[in-house]
Amino acid sequence: MKTINEKIRWGVLGAANIAQKSVIPAAQKSRQLEITAIASRSEEKAQEAAEFLGIKNYYGSYEALLQDPDIDALYIPLPNHLHAQWAIAAMEAGKHVLCEKPIALSLEEIDAIIRTRDKTGMKIGEAFMVKSHPQWEAAVKLKNEGVLGTLTGGQGSFTYYNDNPQNVRNMYNKGGGGLWDIGVYPVFTSRLFFGEEPESVCAIVESDPQFGIDRLASAILKFPSGQFSFICGTQTNSYQHIRFFGTKGTLEIPMPFNPSPTEKATILLSGTKADKQLQTISFDAVDQYTLELEAFSEAIRTGREVPVPLENSRHNTAVILALFRAAEQGKWETV
Ligand SMILES: NC(=O)c1ccc[n+]([C@@H]2O[C@H](COP(=O)([O-])OP(=O)(O)OC[C@H]3O[C@@H](n4cnc5c(N)ncnc54)[C@H](OP(=O)(O)O)[C@@H]3O)[C@@H](O)[C@H]2O)c1
Repeated sequence: MKTINEKIRWGVLGAANIAQKSVIPAAQKSRQLEITAIASRSEEKAQEAAEFLGIKNYYGSYEALLQDPDIDALYIPLPNHLHAQWAIAAMEAGKHVLCEKPIALSLEEIDAIIRTRDKTGMKIGEAFMVKSHPQWEAAVKLKNEGVLGTLTGGQGSFTYYNDNPQNVRNMYNKGGGGLWDIGVYPVFTSRLFFGEEPESVCAIVESDPQFGIDRLASAILKFPSGQFSFICGTQTNSYQHIRFFGTKGTLEIPMPFNPSPTEKATILLSGTKADKQLQTISFDAVDQYTLELEAFSEAIRTGREVPVPLENSRHNTAVILALFRAAEQGKWETV
């Protein structure tokens, strides 16, 4: 086990956009961890990324990074269809794993990952960075304190426009589509907020005729104590929001999934004060990717639970799969 003064050494599997633009720069803001290597299928690309980002070591294959004895943990930002395979290979090689969402595309995949975790004893979790942002911790606390009265429901949305055929999100056989890419967030955060699992779901899904991926989906999740609906789209103007309703008040998070790392985040409460004035709760600007990596590194160092364990991920995966089934069959589906 590492002492508090020893940095957790991370490797990055694939010179992915999210890694280069957000997660590696976020890691480099922390004193608790360091990115010591990056791998790409192309040595040239790995070298270029390492030099640009100031990373010590680079490899021209993923297998080579897995064999690096100076790495404690791997961050996996590969296309969705490769998550399970490389998460398993990394744990087998003795590395802890933080894997991008969605960590798996089927329950069989997630069960295989769980078996490998239990066999190897490595730490593994899904990279739902939203969980590390203080705005979500505060929102759940407010709900648990009864600020909204009795929770009755919620609504969310997450959309962007991307019709680039070269983007992995538009490739059906690489786990593309809106529900796997961004629908996972309203599902994850509504489960977090309700503190329950949805019993049944229904959905309508529109597929892109050329790509075959879901480009627009509307869903309803029936939780034991309320109803939550959301829309997610990949060919719709960029937008996000989430709101929860109770018998006494409403809680809104204007930037629930990608709050800026350089601006204050806010929660808006209405109906909760005696004079019914809108109440704004502000949070200092934080980089949720830095907090996510620090929380995961802390779990490695202390042996404590990771921020989003596989048992949680299994529920999220089951909800997305049920939404696809519900849309296909045009009826409510049990999760
Ligand atoms: N948490 C978040 O905020 C967030 C945001 C965006 C994306 N993500 C997740 O991060 C992952 C990557 O997304 P991204 O937008 O960064 O994707 P991306 O830029 O396309 O990167 C994916 C990387 O995977 C590697 N790769 C290996 N096999 C591949 C194949 N057959 N086809 C394409 N690429 C392949 C490539 O790296 P090499 O060529 O270097 O080997 C590529 O750069 C996805 O799972 C996505 O859901 C999370």
